[in-house]
Amino acid sequence: MDGKKVMLSGIQPSGDLHLGNYLGPLRHWPEMIEEFDCYFFMADLHTITVRQDPAQLRKRTLTQIAQYIACGLDPEKCVLFVQSHVPAHTQLSWVLNCYTMFGELNRMTQFKDKSAKHAENVNAGLFTYPVLMAADILIYQPDFVPVGEDQKQHVEICRDIAERFNGVYGDVFRVPEPYIAKVGARIMSLNTPDTKMSKSLHEGCVFLMEKPEDIMRKFKRAVTDSDTERCVRYAPAEKPGVSNLMQIYAAATGKTYEDIEAEFAGQGYGKFKPAVGEAVAETLRPIREETERLLADKAYLESVYRAGAEKASYAAEKTLRKVYKKVGFIAR
Ligand code: TYM
Repeated sequence: MDGKKVMLSGIQPSGDLHLGNYLGPLRHWPEMIEEFDCYFFMADLHTITVRQDPAQLRKRTLTQIAQYIACGLDPEKCVLFVQSHVPAHTQLSWVLNCYTMFGELNRMTQFKDKSAKHAENVNAGLFTYPVLMAADILIYQPDFVPVGEDQKQHVEICRDIAERFNGVYGDVFRVPEPYIAKVGARIMSLNTPDTKMSKSLHEGCVFLMEKPEDIMRKFKRAVTDSDTERCVRYAPAEKPGVSNLMQIYAAATGKTYEDIEAEFAGQGYGKFKPAVGEAVAETLRPIREETERLLADKAYLESVYRAGAEKASYAAEKTLRKVYKKVGFIAR
């Protein structure tokens, strides 16, 4: 590309995109495409660490491309692609596996959580998943990786792997920084505000494609706090439910916590919850409508991911050739 700083991120099409994915990283991506050379992908290879229904996976991957575009990622201005279309990711991942320590992977909190959740399927892919993610990142030599809080540890291990490799072979990889938004980086479940919002906790999760009435219902039922004060005040440790709703409202409207406290002063939670629901429904409405419109044009979506795979492969293969040479593989 053209000497601008590089940015890269991905989301797994393992479920429908939700408000955490949107308010954490995704909503910031469109602002970045003007300033950076950006690569955004559907991390389909990552999804099969947990069993997937093949037809559903295909459908969700296509929907996710449409959603990326609907959120403002103009495919003319950034590279949108499907991870499995660029084999260099898995090729680099093998090399990096040999520069990653068992003990490092064993410390990953997400591995511990997921292996507890899927005790019947603790496969090697689940364990080495951060290495594939490191390959996804390092292969594009990015400066920044915008993610939510829960992926910070994976970006850190990626940096460690890059530094270890560079320590042996010289400056092969740029060592990227995680980019984590101040508001929205950890959206919690609406009905269990001590756990992160995720698609597996369905009732506490708001999906991008949900209808306004379903969104409103979920917000009206959102768990608030059982303190006696019953006022809208930002205090995550004491009032996790209300603080989470404030975080969502702040991210959706751009208001500060002080603004929100003033807006609902003396009003209890009864007015606050539907106001958050409405702000979210209004934020998501144009995205849902545009996604639906785009999904009707499969030929266009195919043309986007084909062109994206081509551009991404060009950049990825360049790094892969360099790595292969450094470790001592003879050129074909
Ligand atoms: P994934 O698919 O679980 O989530 C995608 C992005 O959404 C963020 N996120 C959240 N942010 C705020 N609140 C939440 N409740 C919430 N839930 C999810 C995640 O932090 C992430 O930024 N391994 C990655 C995908 C991936 C990737 C990469 C990301 C694969 N390769 C390379 C960046 C660079 C993952 O599983 O994210």
